[in-house]
Amino acid sequence: MHPISAADTDRDQSLPVRVPLATQPLGILGTLRAGRRNVLELIPEIATHAPIITNTAGKRWHMVTDPDALRRVLRDRVEDYPKSDVTKLMLAPAIGQSLFIAEGQEWLWQRRTAAPVFSHRNVANLAPVMTAAADRASARFAAAAGRAADAFDEMVTATFEVISDVTLSGGETFDRDAVHKAIDAYMAQTAKISLLDVIGAPPWVPRPSRLLSGPGLRDMKKMADTTIDRRRSEKGSNPIPDLLDLLMAGEDPKSGRKMTTEEIRDNLLTFIVAGHETTALTLSWALYLCAFDPTVQDRARAEAQSVLGTRTATADDVPRLPFIRQVIDETLRLYPPAAFLSRTAQKPDELCGRDVRRGDTVILPIYALHRHKKLWSDPDRFDPGRFAPGHQTDRFAFLPFGDGPRICIGANFAIQEAVIILSTLLARFRFARIAGKDPKPVMILTLRPEGGVWLSITQA
Ligand code: HEM
Repeated sequence: MHPISAADTDRDQSLPVRVPLATQPLGILGTLRAGRRNVLELIPEIATHAPIITNTAGKRWHMVTDPDALRRVLRDRVEDYPKSDVTKLMLAPAIGQSLFIAEGQEWLWQRRTAAPVFSHRNVANLAPVMTAAADRASARFAAAAGRAADAFDEMVTATFEVISDVTLSGGETFDRDAVHKAIDAYMAQTAKISLLDVIGAPPWVPRPSRLLSGPGLRDMKKMADTTIDRRRSEKGSNPIPDLLDLLMAGEDPKSGRKMTTEEIRDNLLTFIVAGHETTALTLSWALYLCAFDPTVQDRARAEAQSVLGTRTATADDVPRLPFIRQVIDETLRLYPPAAFLSRTAQKPDELCGRDVRRGDTVILPIYALHRHKKLWSDPDRFDPGRFAPGHQTDRFAFLPFGDGPRICIGANFAIQEAVIILSTLLARFRFARIAGKDPKPVMILTLRPEGGVWLSITQA
């Protein structure tokens, strides 16, 4: 047996739930066992106080939490650190050579083409879709008032409504539930296996390619193709262009190149996969944290009620809800949906005095970075005050959306959506924990609450 000593046993009730990090080397079997259970447990606890951890036994990897080294990997030497082979292997079957995985020129022209799609004005124009989703979520919570509900489930429904309404909407061919199920199944399967690959699982562990020819994925692609064809025949009849209209109309400002149907489809599926669960996680962890700390919840509610009254939030309200935004930033710090990023070094380099060889995997353990003892005071504590106006956080100590040229293209979209939905819900409802039912953070591609986020709900 390779025991995993865990902070679990000394759980401090004044702190919100956290992942027990490994405090002893796990060995191969222990690593595999922990990886099956929760990949986050593979992060050694020492990653929350050392700048870098290097593994040279077997597959070489480095886990980096030093802000200067992160700046080098993500920004200054970005060409030398492309996304890791594992990331590509995992995502390519679903989203082809889209923006998320392409490199070099293939990435650059797509990024230039897609950047205007997410301009401030275009994202603000899509806010009514978010407002409508906030209203429907309120109606569901109102029906559950006086009882318990799974906030994660509700938030996944809300964010999937938003992303599908701005990508696949229109026509009767769109079966929201079917697409949603296909994407979920795909993500759950792929993530588990490929993260074992990061840490060098033996060859008998099944590889993604075996799993990725199922009907779900085929249906998902067919659905996107049908939508694109239909939109082409309708020729921009939407009064307010959505993400698909904008992508279809877009062209690379440098070369004039436009995306083919296949390229549009791959990017569209990328937006759906990258955009909905991450935002739902942010919202449901934020609701958990508000339930965990009623004082914060009351302050957030007071702000939301004074700005909104009985209205549902809109794009114009977003800048007027600074404390709600602080709660969201603090949530992204404690439970970053993308808890791990990884890169493959292309050239020899040095990070924090360690030799990096060509082919080494560089893991960016965002979860550990956000709880690093040298970068944050009392890092496991929930305190939205850290993000009060004028805060001095190091840019590279807080990376929920990554940074450098490959920073999340949908960050503004996600933040706007999260502020609109969270403020609307807090203005209308009170959320409380249910004894014995705290969520457990588990890493499955994203950092998810196992068993959901069960909260009791009452009208505010
Ligand atoms: C809270 C919600 C979100 C979080 C935490 C998040 C996180 C991230 C992170 C960490 C990256 C960088 C990955 C890396 O460097 O390896 C990324 C990239 C990306 N995200 Fe997001 N994301 C969110 C929402 C969205 C949304 C709403 C969309 C689209 C509608 C989106 C689309 C993308 C795309 C296309 C990329 C790749 C960009 C590129 O490589 O040029 N994301 N996201």
